[in-house]
Amino acid sequence: MNAPAPAHRTGAVASDALVIFGFTGDLASKKIFPALYAMVKKGELTTPVIGVASTKWSNYQLHQRVRESVEREGGIDDKPAFDRMVALLRYVSGDYQDPATFAALKAALAGSQRPAYYLAIPPSLFATVIQSLGTTGIARDARLIVEKPFGRDLASAVELDAIAHSVFPEPSIFRIDHYLGKEAIMNILYFRFANSFPEPIWNRDHVASVQVTLAEDFGIGQRGGFYESAGCLRDVIQNHLFQIVALLAMEPPAYQGFGAVHSAKASVFRAMRPLAPDDVVRGQYAGYRQEKDVAPDSDVETFCAVRLFIDSWRWAGVPWYLRSGKRLPSTVAEVLVQLRPPPQKLFDDSHPTDGRANYFRFRLQPVSAIALAARVKHPGREFVGDQRELYLCEDVPAEESPYERLLGDAMAGDGALFTTQDAVEAAWAVVDPVLVDHHPALSYQPGTWGPRAADALVAGHIGWHNPGPERPEAPEPCA
Ligand code: BG6
Repeated sequence: MNAPAPAHRTGAVASDALVIFGFTGDLASKKIFPALYAMVKKGELTTPVIGVASTKWSNYQLHQRVRESVEREGGIDDKPAFDRMVALLRYVSGDYQDPATFAALKAALAGSQRPAYYLAIPPSLFATVIQSLGTTGIARDARLIVEKPFGRDLASAVELDAIAHSVFPEPSIFRIDHYLGKEAIMNILYFRFANSFPEPIWNRDHVASVQVTLAEDFGIGQRGGFYESAGCLRDVIQNHLFQIVALLAMEPPAYQGFGAVHSAKASVFRAMRPLAPDDVVRGQYAGYRQEKDVAPDSDVETFCAVRLFIDSWRWAGVPWYLRSGKRLPSTVAEVLVQLRPPPQKLFDDSHPTDGRANYFRFRLQPVSAIALAARVKHPGREFVGDQRELYLCEDVPAEESPYERLLGDAMAGDGALFTTQDAVEAAWAVVDPVLVDHHPALSYQPGTWGPRAADALVAGHIGWHNPGPERPEAPEPCA
């Protein structure tokens, strides 16, 4: 698989301005500003950057906000680059419903022929903004970058796609899922298909179950409004976790090129069995209802555990357990591919006494590591041993943050690391049945692994794998 090609190799013409809707939001401050700074530092961003939001900010406030964000998320180690970044910034404030906002944007874009519009805003505003870009006449030769979740269910995703296509052609639409720009997640694809040894055992005959955990030790912060309309299932399971599952479960791409990866992943989503209420345990951390912008009787889940089946030849009968939540014991993401025990018990201890047979473990964050657990004999007369990990940890920090990578790719017209509409719709079709029809969210204490009821999902198996601290040889997570 070749690395996605930069614009000069794809033949696409690069965007000549980046417009960011949602400039005063949490996402912009946490991830986008630091990404822009890194791009400017490397000389990869030299076009104007126009922020749009409803908050009225002076230039001074804008610059302060950007400075605070970059300082907090990694620091300013190149003052000239920071100054160059600030010089690229412009700001348009106004209501997204008001045509005057788009007229002001048009004026700010003067001189730009091919802007890229990035919607870092709540999904409920996508349609309004896309349509206004069309009616204002500033969508021609432009690109559209849309944050996840794309829609809030299957029907709205289909509707949103029709709206997007009424203004932008498909090659100009970039559906972002920033997990696809993470090194450790790209490495799942590489590890599986750049090596020959995993493939013969990567199937129902050898894999007993797969677990994917994305845990965060913090709460929803200032994002109560967004979270109330989303919940954990829409926020991260239908997209980030499903993308991880697709990379783990997909068939080998039929040819070299990301088109083959896209279609192999879409086939995984299509083979997923639609979820039923008993496949899902929803939880809500104690204290959530007192958070800002949260309803006092909210039933929105801040934790979600899912049991999933992929009804394909390769994965028939293998349960996939996915779990994510806020205010869990740590901030960590990990995959455990649990292998079946040997068919015969030749040694007293060769069936796992601790409940775990051999496994592959992919630590996805805060560091990137892969471990293969195997039993080895203890020195001595007895044939007894224990399970130890062959351990590979990436100690070179990622060159780019996911947003740096993905915004650069989208502006260059390279869609390799973005999701496709057929995959988005197939993923919604899996979760659609339980978006409305589900059991109530059960309360859990902050700092725990969610409601106890989640344990029942894995009954008959070995229980949840709670990712522990990474091994001592793991490097410090990079900022
Ligand atoms: C976002 C979700 O897409 O991903 C957040 O909206 C979540 O709720 C975040 O915290 C996790 O991303 P990362 O890169 O920090 O693991």
